[in-house]
Amino acid sequence: MNILHIDSSALGSHSVSRELSAAVTAELRRSHPDVRVTYRDLAARPLPHWTPLGDAGDPAVREGSAVLEEFLVADFVVIGAPMYNFSIPSTLKAWIDRVAVAGRTFRYGPNGAEGLAGGKQVIIASTRGGFYAAGTPGAAADFQEAYLRQVFGFFGIDAIEFVRAEGLNISPAQKTEALAAAHASIDCDARRAA
Ligand SMILES: Cc1cc2nc3c(=O)[nH]c(=O)nc-3n(C[C@H](O)[C@H](O)[C@H](O)COP(=O)(O)O)c2cc1C
Repeated sequence: MNILHIDSSALGSHSVSRELSAAVTAELRRSHPDVRVTYRDLAARPLPHWTPLGDAGDPAVREGSAVLEEFLVADFVVIGAPMYNFSIPSTLKAWIDRVAVAGRTFRYGPNGAEGLAGGKQVIIASTRGGFYAAGTPGAAADFQEAYLRQVFGFFGIDAIEFVRAEGLNISPAQKTEALAAAHASIDCDARRAA
């Protein structure tokens, strides 16, 4: 059993998504004691942008292959994904560009696109300063969760959950409340996954 744990917030120890992704991973460890965890900090060690250049010996190509293999062998993928400018941090986008590989995570056939990486659970620790939940006026501006759902769905992964803390920059009280609710939802999610 493998967990791939990824963080992308640039805020280091002040980051809420890092706190939540660590809590999700800790819960998964509790319910699956034999699990092996691979950790990637995309802010501390950003991946190079994808380019068409490079041969197998190129360090960027080698790292891109390692990133893809880590993803393919993971049973659980836990991602700390803050909203940056209505979408995700560019470091996380650079990771997605390494994982979206035709013939490995998806392919195009006579019936269109087909995901090849099903059978995993993806749990996203989603944080945002404002409110974007379905049914609110901000919902149409959510290119963060909607985008991640699309990407992992494209890879054939239906089991995608969001552990969400939003409205974090509205007020200290809202932040406290959102964090408590997010932590409470992690406990429930871990029990379901066990
Ligand atoms: C560069 C940057 C862009 C941001 N853009 C948005 C945004 O578009 N909408 C929003 O609600 N919050 C935005 N925020 C606020 C963050 O989503 C919020 O502070 C969240 O807690 C960040 O997650 P973290 O604590 O894990 O870093 C932005 C923050 C940063 C640093």
